[in-house]
Amino acid sequence: MGGAGLIGGVSGYDDAYRRSIDEPERFWAEAARGIDWDVPPETVLGDDGRWFPDGRLNTCHNALDRHVAAGHGDRVALVYDSPVTGTVRNFTYAELLDRVARTAGMLRDLGVGAGDTVVIYMPMVPEAVVAMLACARLGAVHSVVFGGFAAAELAVRIDHARPAVVLSASCGIEPTRLVEYKPLLDAALEQAEHRPRHCVILQRPQHPASLVEGRDLDWETAVSAATPAGCTAVAATDPLYILYTSGTTGAPKGVVRDNGGHAVALHWSMSSVYGTAPGEVFWAASDVGWVVGHSYIVYGPLMAGCTTVLYEGKPVGTPDPGAFWRVVAMHGVRTLFTAPTAIRAIKKEDPTGDFAKKWDLSGLRYLFLAGERLDPDTYHWAGDLLGIPVIDHWWQTETGWPVAANCVGLGPLPVKPGSPTKPVPGYDVRILDSSGADCPPGTEGAVTIKLPLPPGTLPTLYRDDARFTESYLSRYPGHYLTGDGGYIDAEGYLYVMGRIDDVINVAGHRLSTGQMEEVIASHPDVAECAVIGVADDLKGELPVGFVVLKAGASRDPADVEREVAALVRERIGPVAAFRRAVVVGRLPKTRSGKILRATMRDIAAGRDYRTPSTIEDPATLTEIADAL
Ligand code: COA
Ligand code: AMP
Repeated sequence: MGGAGLIGGVSGYDDAYRRSIDEPERFWAEAARGIDWDVPPETVLGDDGRWFPDGRLNTCHNALDRHVAAGHGDRVALVYDSPVTGTVRNFTYAELLDRVARTAGMLRDLGVGAGDTVVIYMPMVPEAVVAMLACARLGAVHSVVFGGFAAAELAVRIDHARPAVVLSASCGIEPTRLVEYKPLLDAALEQAEHRPRHCVILQRPQHPASLVEGRDLDWETAVSAATPAGCTAVAATDPLYILYTSGTTGAPKGVVRDNGGHAVALHWSMSSVYGTAPGEVFWAASDVGWVVGHSYIVYGPLMAGCTTVLYEGKPVGTPDPGAFWRVVAMHGVRTLFTAPTAIRAIKKEDPTGDFAKKWDLSGLRYLFLAGERLDPDTYHWAGDLLGIPVIDHWWQTETGWPVAANCVGLGPLPVKPGSPTKPVPGYDVRILDSSGADCPPGTEGAVTIKLPLPPGTLPTLYRDDARFTESYLSRYPGHYLTGDGGYIDAEGYLYVMGRIDDVINVAGHRLSTGQMEEVIASHPDVAECAVIGVADDLKGELPVGFVVLKAGASRDPADVEREVAALVRERIGPVAAFRRAVVVGRLPKTRSGKILRATMRDIAAGRDYRTPSTIEDPATLTEIADAL
């Protein structure tokens, strides 16, 4: 695609968007031609809203085998760049295919087949990518768990996903410490009721782990004993993966991604949204534990025949704020995708951009940002520094690919800072008021998507169809509820203003305040608590807990505050970045006992707020404001 933007006075975007909404089946049938099918779909959209229900394919074939078969085996598929271990290594498509096929053979020998689940709990090493693709090759369903979660969170996911096998590594490497994955896995398996048949452990030289006889296998030994496995064709509607994400309660939601819709949508997005061509270097500086890593470190770039970069490091401190620019220059990155918080971290340490000037960044064409709101300061700073388009785009784990973006592959639109531009083809975004009526342009409401959702978006929650319906479809019948609030202006630009539920966004990581409250409430001296997100210059938001002690608890508030922070770290993990708890006399509540979280959020954000007429005691709001 690529290109000209205006065709006969109509932009490529306008034309594609209109076709995708007016004739979705025709639109996505055309896009489906970009994918190799074992059985091409005859039905595009099934009655139940599932895409390509009679098609059969294999996602790993589309990511690897077909490129090798087309003569691109020597093209670099994956660049592993790890400043924390001092390693840079390239894998061609042929090499990656060989590793994936052998690893799939190892899994097959352990009894893993189509439909079985496999939990992957790994740092940013090539084997993590190989593991995902090996599952896809067998038609098995992977569930990657981010390394920054605590053992208890891993246990919850293991019990819900019920994996046949767990794939893990001895350790991860953070700039200031080693993260011992294996003891975390052992602790999780002690807490979990489900027993995987085996754990396969990648021993890293930085900190080898001890293995449990009979249960644990050494990765290298097991893979070298295996013969390569071929691709198993699965139904387009069969699950490719489950990715757990935070909801409003403690139990995470297992977002399901299917094979067919995902392949079609991601492949289409690489050219149309990101303007990327086969052979180009695409770098999503995220983690394979998040949806960005699934879609745009692993599946999207590889299905499109690009070179993807797997970066085991940080934007700063590994070793300096020039780390991203070194990677861009060294590997010829054309498209960089990261979270605004990473750019803010770089800006904080290198406000004048001196580190960027040390590197040749002339090959970089676009900087895409997502994961949290892009503040105008960061947008302007990055644009001025790099002299290239900085593109804010908005999406979520559930959708798997962008809902709103400046689709540069269809012809870029003028940018409005603060807006991720317009809905991407396939997404009929509607802003609804509390009665379900469309909001007029410029008026804020709930951001929803009129059904059907396009291919690649979640068909359900794993083993919980009822929660899927209740969380996303029941509030506004016929629409998917995104959980974000926002508005569309008179020119059709979307503005996403933030979550309207109890989900917060810390350094681009999605967390549940409800879950933190459940953990804090388990402290023996805590009577009740409320956690809200407060604005933070670096991480966007940080959680702050307000804690009321039990009557008669004669504890030093500072001690309880410390213990509560330690408890959240122990139960949820360091990624929660929960450091601040404040003991207060009472929480602001209505007379019927409901905690006024929305008003607390307004106070924390410095917004004008109205003291609700139902409040029990207005002085409780003053106490919160003073504590902040
Ligand atoms: N495994 C184990 N621990 C991890 C981890 C992982 N994969 N990733 C993060 N952590 C730990 C960190 O070491 C830190 O621990 P600490 O409290 O002991 O310091 C804690 O989790 C919080 O991490 P984070 O919120 O990332 O803060 P940070 O100070 O380490 O780094 C940034 C701040 C901005 C540099 C970092 O968040 C970043 O690069 N963000 C990019 C955003 C991103 O990848 N978003 C994903 C969606 S696009
Ligand atoms: P996750 O599921 O972790 O990707 O988080 C999704 C949530 O992050 C969305 O519902 C938004 O609240 C927020 N988000 C992601 N991208 C953006 C963006 N470009 N602008 C504003 N918020 C965003």
